[in-house]
Amino acid sequence: MISYARQTQEEQPEAPSPAEEHIAPAPRVSVQAFCETVETAAAVQSAGEDRRLGKAHLKIQMGGMAAAIEAYRSAPTPNVIVLESDARNDLLTGLDQLATVCDAGTRVVVIGSINDVMLYRELVRRGVSDYVLAPVSAIDVVRSICNLFSAPEAKAVGRIIAVVGAKGGVGASTVSHNVAWAIARDLAMDAVVADLDLAFGTAGLDYNQDPPQGIADAVFSPDRVDTAFIDRLLSKCTDHLSLLAAPATLDRVYDFGTDAFDAVFDTLRSTMPCIVLDIPHQWSGWTKRALIGADDILIVAAPDLANLRNTKNLFDLLKAARPNDRPPLYCLNQVGIPKRPEIAATEFAKAIESQPVVSIPFEPQIFGAAANNGQMIAEISANHKSIEMFLQIAQRLTGRSETKKQKSSLLSPLIGKLRGK
Ligand SMILES: Nc1ncnc2c1ncn2[C@@H]1O[C@H](COP(=O)(O)OP(=O)(O)OP(=O)(O)O)[C@@H](O)[C@H]1O
Ligand SMILES: [Mg+2]
Repeated sequence: MISYARQTQEEQPEAPSPAEEHIAPAPRVSVQAFCETVETAAAVQSAGEDRRLGKAHLKIQMGGMAAAIEAYRSAPTPNVIVLESDARNDLLTGLDQLATVCDAGTRVVVIGSINDVMLYRELVRRGVSDYVLAPVSAIDVVRSICNLFSAPEAKAVGRIIAVVGAKGGVGASTVSHNVAWAIARDLAMDAVVADLDLAFGTAGLDYNQDPPQGIADAVFSPDRVDTAFIDRLLSKCTDHLSLLAAPATLDRVYDFGTDAFDAVFDTLRSTMPCIVLDIPHQWSGWTKRALIGADDILIVAAPDLANLRNTKNLFDLLKAARPNDRPPLYCLNQVGIPKRPEIAATEFAKAIESQPVVSIPFEPQIFGAAANNGQMIAEISANHKSIEMFLQIAQRLTGRSETKKQKSSLLSPLIGKLRGK
């Protein structure tokens, strides 16, 4: 289907913000692009470097339609052909010619600068999958190619949120579990927490779950990983929240290869609207890959110098590796430990060039009780100020606003009084 509404950046005042726009990564497909202009070739080139096309094989050449026809005279066609063409008649006759050599299943995306509904119709009639108005940016190309492979009903599918601490012990796991809880409870989204700290992870303890199986069963037998298999490994915490628990046992060691978790993430993505990764504070091939490949990232930092340096380094690296994504988000945690000198949130914001989403106070009593009882903060104290902060993080990460705002809140004092009587 052609998207008639494709507009250039300037003409798109209501373009969805990156948080709202969710482009699912493309599967392992071959893409060949035939460009006419260097600008388009450059955009396609940087699209090919985007994380969402990480699995696709992309080849770019110049020469537009003529080159494409020439190329496919003898060679088989790839999964996707991207064609830049600015001449209406050449484009239509060229497409007719291509149609005779295109293998079944090959999809064609056309990039052109003619904004005309008659042309769109002719393209639709010829089975062109998408028409993207030039000038195109990298993300336009990413979007167009990825959308070919995500069904329209797949809207709910697979947003991965990676949470990592800027240092060990700063509360990254605690924050990720409470944020996932808010996503499930207050935003009513089905969510799963994947505890990637296989040796020492605390998600099982925090949600008071002791499942016999979990993420280790999947990562140690990648060939068996499919939706049904992963489903059996999940333990249900609440209506909307499931857990893929870490074994937290030491009989094995956990030295994973860079793409060890790919199958697990892909499978989760195909069934779960929201996947929260609790990533341990370490720097290895697979942790780096999990961060770069996520749809959104939250860095949890305590307000000291080492955290500041590490947060800055993570920001710099992740921004460079994800040029078509919004920057990571970060929050401060354990703020206000008595007598501890701290770096102020404003100083952090200056150095990172971004404001923390929230600054969560150090509250040893309530956080300690939650951790030891296997409860979320919201279960221990329904009105604690950190609950609003977890919800705020959840909203920023998912791009959703609260669906289940307690409508009764206006009336609840009254109801309370009546009950009291
Ligand atoms: N805001 C807070 N106030 C008080 N205690 C907190 C706060 N946040 C987290 N904690 C406590 O800090 C400890 C470490 O938290 P957590 O395990 O979540 O950190 P982490 O960054 O995931 O650590 P690791 O590096 O081991 O993965 C826990 O005991 C937790 O209860
Ligand atoms: Mg942790």
